[in-house]
Amino acid sequence: MVLSSSEVFGAFDRAWVNTAHQGPLPRAAAEAARASVEDKLDPRRIPEEAFFEVPRMLRGTLGRLVGADPAEIVLGNSTTYGLDLLAHGLHLRDGDEVLLVEGDFPASIYPWLPLQRRGVSLRRVPAASGALQPEDLQAALTDRTRVVCTSWVFSFTGHTADVPALVDVCRDHGDITFVLNGSQAVGARPTDVHELGIDALVSCGFKWLCGPYATGFAWLRPELTQSLDYEQGYWLAQVDEIANPPAQYELRDDLRAAAYDVFCTANLSTYPAWERAVAVLLDIGLDQVQRHDQLLVDQLIEGLPTGWRLRSPASGPERSTLVFVEPEHPDTVDRALVRLDTAGVDAGERTGMVRLSPHIHNITEDMDRTLAALAR
Ligand SMILES: Cc1ncc(COP(=O)(O)O)c(C=O)c1O
Repeated sequence: MVLSSSEVFGAFDRAWVNTAHQGPLPRAAAEAARASVEDKLDPRRIPEEAFFEVPRMLRGTLGRLVGADPAEIVLGNSTTYGLDLLAHGLHLRDGDEVLLVEGDFPASIYPWLPLQRRGVSLRRVPAASGALQPEDLQAALTDRTRVVCTSWVFSFTGHTADVPALVDVCRDHGDITFVLNGSQAVGARPTDVHELGIDALVSCGFKWLCGPYATGFAWLRPELTQSLDYEQGYWLAQVDEIANPPAQYELRDDLRAAAYDVFCTANLSTYPAWERAVAVLLDIGLDQVQRHDQLLVDQLIEGLPTGWRLRSPASGPERSTLVFVEPEHPDTVDRALVRLDTAGVDAGERTGMVRLSPHIHNITEDMDRTLAALAR
């Protein structure tokens, strides 16, 4: 059954079918965002405990989301924050090799580029099918490979990588840190970092997790956190209260992943709203969210009008919530996007194709409208 979403997300005239770009805020999250603005208009309303309580709540909720101990969650402002932390904190030296994926989203690539100045070599493994394949990874590994970084769902193809199979290839090979970018997957499917077998998960919070922009997190395997060669001294993470200076200045060694949180971790403008958004998804249940989203994807694929070709996977574990369609001559993507817009449908355009990415806020009528607009 497809959920009725207006209570959770509000009722809109238009259909937002572009979560792969930005997810909409649920009502409860919007309430939290409004409350943050009200508090800031009258700062007496901001209790000092909020500086500790806001990150504590968010870390707990994100831990539940990915099946991890909250103490293993790094709070960030983007996907890049976690990748940058890893690129700088892993002991990578002259001669070491990082494997990336050809065609991956730039956020998975750029954070590693500064390592080249240290003599670390970056190689991009081809992903002709649209996602990194275990046999291609196997063929690319060398005895210098220290890190593999891949998206779970690929932003430009809609293909889902078989993460446990890729991790197995790395484990059979040796000591490799497996870093997964879950930005286009987490929030659209159940996620358990232990079942995936990975070493690190990074994700933004503003797509399938329906949070405000400038949100993101990383989960790090505890041994990985301990081995990071990177220390920061952020005052708010180090103290237990803000009314008095500490008796002595020493970096704490009990912070675990929180030692690497982004500065201004008590981001009162974005984090309370993001926490509520993730809590909404958890309350619905990620199994149910996945079922709902996949029914909408079924509807799009089965109803695709003649004159359109599906370019993302039609079925099976490679399919995601990103549906890529391409017009056959004589239609064009530009004309179709104008028709969609006129019909009140907001879709994306990527690599010369229309990208449709429905999520829990969408209903079957949104897909009907989308298909009708594509048909003309
Ligand atoms: C796979 C993927 N990773 C990351 C991002 C965003 O990166 P960041 O959160 O660092 O802005 C996007 C899209 O914007 C994406 O599609």
